[in-house]
Amino acid sequence: MSSARARLLFTPITLRAVEVRNRLWAPPMCQYSALAQDGMPTDWHLVHLGALARGGAGAVIAEATAVVPEGRISPQDLGLWNDAQREAFRPIVDFIHGQGAAAGIQLAHAGRKASTYRPFGESATGTVPEADGGWRPVAPSPVAFEGLATPDELDAAGIEAVVTAFAASARRAVDAGFDLLEVHAAHGYLLHEFLSPLSNRRTDRYGGPLENRARLLLEVIDAVRAEIGEEVPLLVRFSATDWVEHGWTLAETEIVAGWAAAHGADMFDISSGGNALARIPTGPGYQVPFAAAVRAATGTPVAAVGMIDHAAQAEQVLVTGQADVVLAGRQMLRDPNFAINAARELGVGTALVPGAYERAYV
Ligand SMILES: Cc1cc2nc3c(=O)[nH]c(=O)nc-3n(C[C@H](O)[C@H](O)[C@H](O)COP(=O)(O)O)c2cc1C
Repeated sequence: MSSARARLLFTPITLRAVEVRNRLWAPPMCQYSALAQDGMPTDWHLVHLGALARGGAGAVIAEATAVVPEGRISPQDLGLWNDAQREAFRPIVDFIHGQGAAAGIQLAHAGRKASTYRPFGESATGTVPEADGGWRPVAPSPVAFEGLATPDELDAAGIEAVVTAFAASARRAVDAGFDLLEVHAAHGYLLHEFLSPLSNRRTDRYGGPLENRARLLLEVIDAVRAEIGEEVPLLVRFSATDWVEHGWTLAETEIVAGWAAAHGADMFDISSGGNALARIPTGPGYQVPFAAAVRAATGTPVAAVGMIDHAAQAEQVLVTGQADVVLAGRQMLRDPNFAINAARELGVGTALVPGAYERAYV
C-alpha cells in the first residue's frame, strides 16, 4: 500500500541464516492437548499454531516440547523424543511456512514440576501419581516445589542423558523443518532449577557457585549447537528473577546470558518467575525492563514478553531500544489475528492478510 508507514514491529529481523518477516511473534504456549498421552501433536496443534501463523505473527514458537517423556509438565504435553513425533510435526511446520511465518519450537524438560495434572479438564491438581499415568519427577536436588511431589536427584549419568536428549530433540526439530529453536531455561523447569539456589543444593560440579549452576545449561547449548550447525538460530528463555529473596536474580541472568551467547545462543527471551510461589507485581509490559537489562548487559538481541497487548505498546518497546522482538501470548489467544490487526492499527497496511480473507479488509 502506498500509504503504508515503516514501523519497527513490522520490519524483518535476521538471526543467523533465517529472516523473519516481522518482530511480533507468538511465544510458546502449552496446549496440554496431546490427548493420547504420547507426546504427539494433533489437529488441535495444527489449527492452533496454524491460526497464529495465518494471523500474521512473524514467528510462531510451538509450546514447551519435552525432550524425554519424564520431562513433560503433564501427560498431555508434546514431545520430540522419537521420530514419529518428528513426522507429526512436519505438516504443522509446512503449514506455518505456507503462511509466511517462521516456525520455532521450545525444547523443554519440566524437572521437579513434571507429572502434574493439566490445568483444565481434570478433577485433581498437583502431582499425577504413577497409578494415574504419572511418573517420578527428577531434579537437581530432592527439593519439592510447594504442593508437588519430592523429585529424585539426577546423578551424573542422568545429567548426561538430559544433555544428549536436548541435542537429539534439536536434531529432530530441524529435520521436521523448524527454523529456530528455543531452550526453555525459565519458569522453574529443569534448567532453571539448576540455575537457582532455591532448587539446586548440589555439592558436585553442577551446584554451588554460579559457574557450576550454569554448567548444565551451557552443556545443553553446546550440544544443541553442535547438532544443528551454524545456520539455525537458538533462543534461550530465562526467568530473569525468582521474585523471592535468596533466589535467582537479574544480575545472575545477565552474567549467564553472556556466557550463553559465547556458547552459541543468538537471542534471549526474557520472562520471570515460576520457581517459587511469589508475589509478582504484574502489569502492562512488566517484564520489559528485564529484557532491556539483558540486552544492555550482553549486546545480544532479546525478545520481550508479558502483557504487551497493544500495537502501539509493542512498537514502543522496540523503538525505545528495550528489545528486538515482542512476544504476545494471551493476546494472540484472544485474537489470533493480532499481528494483522496491529499492522493495520499502526498504518503498515494489509500485506499480512491472507488472500482468501482480503474481502474482509477492503
Ligand atoms: C496457555 C499458556 C501456556 C503457556 N505455555 C508456556 C510454555 O509452553 N512455555 C513457556 O515458556 N511459557 C509458556 N507460557 C507463558 C507465555 O509464553 C508468556 O510468557 C506469558 O503468557 C506472558 O505473556 P503474555 O502476557 O503475552 O501472555 C504459557 C502461557 C499461557 C497463557
